[in-house]
Amino acid sequence: MVRLTPTPQVPLLPPHQRPLDMTDLPIAHVPRVFSGVQPSGALHLGNYLGALVKFVDLQHRMECLYCVVDLHAITQPQDPRLLAAQTREIAAAYFAAGVDPERAIVFAQSAVPEHVELAWIFNCVARLGWLDRMTQFKEKTGKNKERASVGLYTYPVLQAADILLYRATHVPVGEDQKQHLELTRDIAAKFNHDFGADGFFPLPEALIEGPGARVMSLRDGRAKMSKSDPSDQSRINLLDDADTIAQKVRRARTDPAPLPEAPEGLAERPEAENLIGLYSALSGESVAQVLKRFAGQGFGVFKPALADLMVEKLAPITKRMRDLMSDPAEIDCILAKGAERARELAAPILAETKARVGFL
Ligand code: AMP
Ligand code: TRP
Repeated sequence: MVRLTPTPQVPLLPPHQRPLDMTDLPIAHVPRVFSGVQPSGALHLGNYLGALVKFVDLQHRMECLYCVVDLHAITQPQDPRLLAAQTREIAAAYFAAGVDPERAIVFAQSAVPEHVELAWIFNCVARLGWLDRMTQFKEKTGKNKERASVGLYTYPVLQAADILLYRATHVPVGEDQKQHLELTRDIAAKFNHDFGADGFFPLPEALIEGPGARVMSLRDGRAKMSKSDPSDQSRINLLDDADTIAQKVRRARTDPAPLPEAPEGLAERPEAENLIGLYSALSGESVAQVLKRFAGQGFGVFKPALADLMVEKLAPITKRMRDLMSDPAEIDCILAKGAERARELAAPILAETKARVGFL
């Protein structure tokens, strides 16, 4: 049987600087982070605050793998001429936001075929009843379930394979991914149980908390900001210029009341809550602090301040993204190196998984 090569231990920060509770991890599982973003459209502020900001932070504390999940993207129709460009664009966004490819392993999912191999094994571990409960599949297909691809249905199984292929223990994502992470844990537990492999796969934890875990649409405070919303006015894209950002914020839906003095006053005011939440996430101030400054003011005062802050924070990222995207060969080279490193980590874990299943 192939032995697992132990992953090098990452130096741990002193306890007071450690943001995560690592004490309940089985000793065998070295803390390791995995996350991914689909190259299926322009990245927006929700992706930035819900995922990328956490990616950057975590790379200083743990071994991290950040993937552009192009295999997931093709579960819905993609223009083949655009897919490669969008894959590079997501990688450029990672780097522009501050992910350092010398620290974190950054790669395209399709360049590591082990993801698909493990996903097949997990397709035989996950139960139909589990997948039937996935709300994202229902949201994406609506009444058109019959016409959805089979891949879209087993999408969360491939996601479990992404994470467990590296025995990752922590997964930074937005709130919409909570259910997929629960399924990942169920798959890990069932594999461990069925193949007498107690503790072989860790039960990974979703890292969701944070001010940007659920960024809402600018047009409807009860719908999340999403790449697939037909209205571009509903989101701030990472490649939007300053004028577009200002215009979208100006047109963002609000209510006529002035801003309250305390966070409780935002209840039942989803649009106001979202905009204040965005200001708080981007400035690093608490919601209470932001409200203290703007209490009693209308949106006519608050919106320009929010737009200015967005431009201040996003413009340097947009510029770096554009610079990086002007050299696609360089991005391809970084991704290829990342894929090589990822395969080295994946190979022994997949080999041991296959041996446990009983493959020769
Ligand atoms: P996706 O765009 O669906 O590939 O999502 C990529 C990452 O961004 C995932 O971690 C999502 O949970 C996160 N994300 C997507 N939309 C939002 C949002 N509106 N608010 C916060 N996080 C989000
Ligand atoms: N499903 C995730 C999303 O839409 C993307 C994803 C695929 C992912 N594989 C993953 C996220 C593994 C975290 C870990 O956002």
